Amino acid sequence: MTRAERLISIGGGKGGVGKSVLAGNLATALAQSGKRTVLVDADLGAPNLHTMFGIDKAGPTLQSFIDHEVESLDEARVETSVRGLTLVRGTSAIIGAANIGFQQKQRLLRHLCALQADVVVVDVGAGTGFNQLDLFDVADQKVVVMTPQLTSIHNAYAFVKGAVFRIADRILKAHGFEKVLDERGHEGETASLKHLLRDVIGCSPKVEAELRETLEQFRLKLFGNQVFDVREAGIFRAVGKMMGDFLSVPAPLIGYARASRAVHESVNRRQPLLAALHNDETGRAFREVAAVLLAEPIRRGTWPALLPDALQETAAA
Ligand SMILES: Nc1ncnc2c1ncn2[C@@H]1O[C@H](COP(=O)(O)OP(=O)(O)O)[C@@H](O)[C@H]1O
Ligand SMILES: [Mg+2]
Repeated sequence: MTRAERLISIGGGKGGVGKSVLAGNLATALAQSGKRTVLVDADLGAPNLHTMFGIDKAGPTLQSFIDHEVESLDEARVETSVRGLTLVRGTSAIIGAANIGFQQKQRLLRHLCALQADVVVVDVGAGTGFNQLDLFDVADQKVVVMTPQLTSIHNAYAFVKGAVFRIADRILKAHGFEKVLDERGHEGETASLKHLLRDVIGCSPKVEAELRETLEQFRLKLFGNQVFDVREAGIFRAVGKMMGDFLSVPAPLIGYARASRAVHESVNRRQPLLAALHNDETGRAFREVAAVLLAEPIRRGTWPALLPDALQETAAA
């Protein structure tokens, strides 16, 4: 199976924090650095990347793929004004479009992994449902966007917790530990994966090893957005430390961007900031995210745990 060098997901739980702004600018920066890039608007409830890129003519959308109007996700791509960047846009035109079933989601995940590109960037949208968590988890590199507001921080933590527990759940279930997470996963904000592991570790060193190995591939980064005061970056680092301590996944801060008029105006201009302004401070922060992600070695993330049969099935699809 040929697949992109990198699959990068952008999540965060809360709406309005800047996931789409980051996804659009990150994808633009990647394309500008010479990578053939596909941006996928997988926000099934409120997609808006097509608006941010000024695309309003008729054409395929993610819904066309879900409805089998096109047979591959590759065919659902449309050109953007950025050279080297194509977009699979979402659709909010159909009521109920946000509900995709299990089979549809598995097909979407497989096709994401098979897109013909150097880099794929997935905007997973708001919420902590299984759709968002699985779209986030399937990526090789994962970025959570948050602002310094408490609501955003709570949602980001809950989102990462959900994403980590979802993978742990897959692995535990595959080994016959059906009930552990159902019983222990809902013990409130403080339920830690370490406690859970301790329970499982007692049972099976093999499962523990697999879980640890998979979580080492989780490759999470935090991005702080809409910062008014640079001291607020400390909040993001503290959240990252909590994720490391309680959820067993390192979560370094990859960068942060100030609340800026330039970003606001770029949305209304219907063009990513980086498509027009190259030396803006916020734009540089977005570009730096691209540079850091590209500098990381290419390694398969957690998707094999999530889609163990992806290799065969993609080849067959
Ligand atoms: N760094 C920033 N400075 C100023 N405004 C921002 C910034 N980041 C995002 N915004 C504004 O917040 C709005 C919501 O951002 P968006 O990326 O759509 O959020 P999400 O995708 O997380 O729901 C955008 O329309 C934009 O105007
Ligand atoms: Mg969005």
